Amino acid sequence: MNAHSKIGLTVVPRENCGAEVLGIDLNNLSDSELVGVKKAYADYGVIFFRDQKITEDQHIAFAKKFGEIDINKFFPHIDGHREIAKVGKEKDQKTNIGGGWHTDHSYDRVPAMGSILVARILPPSGGDTLFANMVAAYDTLDDETRAAIANLNAVHSNSHVFGSKAYYNNEERKEFAKDEAVGEAVHPVAITHPLSGKKALYVNPGFVLRFEGQTIAQSQPLLHKLFAHAMNARFHTRFQWREGSIAFWDNRATWHYALNDYHGHERLMHRITIAGVALH
Ligand code: SIN
Repeated sequence: MNAHSKIGLTVVPRENCGAEVLGIDLNNLSDSELVGVKKAYADYGVIFFRDQKITEDQHIAFAKKFGEIDINKFFPHIDGHREIAKVGKEKDQKTNIGGGWHTDHSYDRVPAMGSILVARILPPSGGDTLFANMVAAYDTLDDETRAAIANLNAVHSNSHVFGSKAYYNNEERKEFAKDEAVGEAVHPVAITHPLSGKKALYVNPGFVLRFEGQTIAQSQPLLHKLFAHAMNARFHTRFQWREGSIAFWDNRATWHYALNDYHGHERLMHRITIAGVALH
């Protein structure tokens, strides 16, 4: 028995969104601890770990306990491991990755289940990540809005983010301008979450352009109403990274937003994204 298994897994919910999972070593998870981690992930949508010492191989091994790895088509990968995407900002760069509310890979026909982000190099201060609870956002919609989205689908695209004419095609982020990898997908606006069975709002400002069967202009009023609702701070938590911190979020239950408030300092995170299931 290792020191951590004596302490046992403790799940401490955060206000509004997510939970901290304490008392475990991700490199030495017992079967019952793994069950506890999976339950916390399904229950809270994003879980946070502290004081972990995890190598790149161990990061991959942990991710594989939850499903197949979904290789990111745009981000650079670390040497020798295509499974691990580098989410970085050099000290002389201005644009960060993920600096707006979004959820990863929602533009894929089968959107990713979740992402495991490991802190590798942190700025002296700043660089926190915000998470938003999309189950709570759905639960608090008024009846009229719920009825309006009940049978609606949304078109998710990445062409305005990653293509050659897109947001990231600037001097700093040329590697993201891969037209061959851009695409779009249609998903329900309100989903039944595949793990928890709860209803969740599944549109995000980063990748959703419009509702299926409507133009962008026709979609704007309701789409903006949904975005404004979910942007309310009562659904959010702010995660402050430290050495050894790991966040594991479910892309179908949360949004996230990487704050870009540490110019002049480097920040490097390693991200593994895990494949999901079709949401229709
Ligand atoms: C991301 O959007 O995946 C990056 C989040 C972060 O760097 O905090």
